[in-house]
Amino acid sequence: METKNEMNRRQFIAQTAKTAAGVGLAVAAGPAINVLGANSMINIGVLGPGSRGQHLMSQLSKIDDKQVRIVAIADIFDGTWRDKALAIAAERFEGRAPKEIAVYKHYEPLFADKNVDAVIIATPEHSHPRHLIAACKAGKDVYCEKPMLHHWKEGDEILKTAQSTNRIVQIGTQRRSLPVYKKAQELIEAGTIGKVTQVHGFWHRNFNPNQPGAAWRRTIPPDLEESKVDWKEFLGTAPSVPFSKERYCHWRCYWDYSNGIGSDLMVHQIDATIMVMKAQMPNTVVASGNIYRWDDGRTTCDTWSTIMEYPGFQFNYSSIFGNQSIDCGEKFYGTDGTIWIDGNNAQNGLKIIPEPDKIRTRDVEAVEIPNEYGGEGQADMLHIANWVECLRSRQKPNCDPQDGFYGAAAASMAIISYFEGRRVRWDAERQEVV
Ligand SMILES: NC(=O)c1ccc[n+]([C@@H]2O[C@H](COP(=O)([O-])OP(=O)(O)OC[C@H]3O[C@@H](n4cnc5c(N)ncnc54)[C@H](O)[C@@H]3O)[C@@H](O)[C@H]2O)c1
Repeated sequence: METKNEMNRRQFIAQTAKTAAGVGLAVAAGPAINVLGANSMINIGVLGPGSRGQHLMSQLSKIDDKQVRIVAIADIFDGTWRDKALAIAAERFEGRAPKEIAVYKHYEPLFADKNVDAVIIATPEHSHPRHLIAACKAGKDVYCEKPMLHHWKEGDEILKTAQSTNRIVQIGTQRRSLPVYKKAQELIEAGTIGKVTQVHGFWHRNFNPNQPGAAWRRTIPPDLEESKVDWKEFLGTAPSVPFSKERYCHWRCYWDYSNGIGSDLMVHQIDATIMVMKAQMPNTVVASGNIYRWDDGRTTCDTWSTIMEYPGFQFNYSSIFGNQSIDCGEKFYGTDGTIWIDGNNAQNGLKIIPEPDKIRTRDVEAVEIPNEYGGEGQADMLHIANWVECLRSRQKPNCDPQDGFYGAAAASMAIISYFEGRRVRWDAERQEVV
């Protein structure tokens, strides 16, 4: 089941993955819940050690709490990504790495592993509900990447399971862990920019077509072959189609596995907006999109707009993959001024821009708060550090499943609006989309 450090890593992965899959099926069904002390070592397992999984592992290795490490990795792709993740787990945790790191193919044996206290889920979007629910039922605390769900109807079971199993679950919309958003929330609550009537979220990107990874078409690893992937497991609840390297690596480009811009990018900015504005679900959502630039076989849109009516304000969203003159950020438009959180991960801090003198009803100071409130990559580290703190304290993490639901369900409403060509409504009484 586990590695021997002296073994050739590739041989080891091939052998252990097979063994682990077999062993896992035989593991007893009861949940394995370990109680963590204030200073006890926290053993983490990673499901889906692709691009994001590896990044989160690196961020985890840098947090102040040094009593945390990776002890197990599971990936249905028996190749490069798991190799890289093993290297991170073995080398970045400053002498804390266990002698043996368990390697699994599937989620079941990972979640049944009694040595694992908590898991990071960084699999593609459409598998999150299945993996998140199974992890909670197996007694694991969870850091689950965004979006928490693919369709709003999946929310009920996730919320009930996380609650009934009493698990600490953090959803990976990390912006809300950046102090700059807390600062914006305080400023707006104090009335600094007057009444906020609209939030503009935007994430514009452009790529040279020859650039590797352009518009979600990432470089496919040379060792990605059908024989090395459990394709049926990747598909999960999605329609059955023949194996496709493009679908496996570029899953964001296909509606079967992703809600495209709506869930990959917009969900971050919905989440930041509802956190700052203390909102929950929008009353209505209307969305529109198309493929104008990257007509390369993808089905998800490369150009996307959404309008959501929240109680008291409107959220106006745009994302395009054909121009990045305004990059990424959120603008909170108030009657006396604007709060502009500028840039990816808010690395450019926060600006307050007063309305002209004649229009303002109060004095508003022009302020620029630099990146001490943000910083490249800082959001990811703060967010995962908050999860680890909560694993010890058993307090609510910054983005619990209820918050994860508000963001992802609103994104799901936008997808329904796009496909059905109509404005959709959240029925708060019945707690459903109509
Ligand atoms: N919070 C953020 O800013 C942020 C940034 C990037 C990605 N993400 C999220 O992270 C998740 C992963 O994205 P990525 O870019 O790393 O994707 P990826 O394709 O690079 O990695 C996915 C990993 O999951 C594995 N996998 C796929 N299906 C699996 C299954 N059923 N069981 C076990 N393993 C499986 C793949 O082999 C791979 O290792 C997505 O939900 C994405 O939205 C979040």
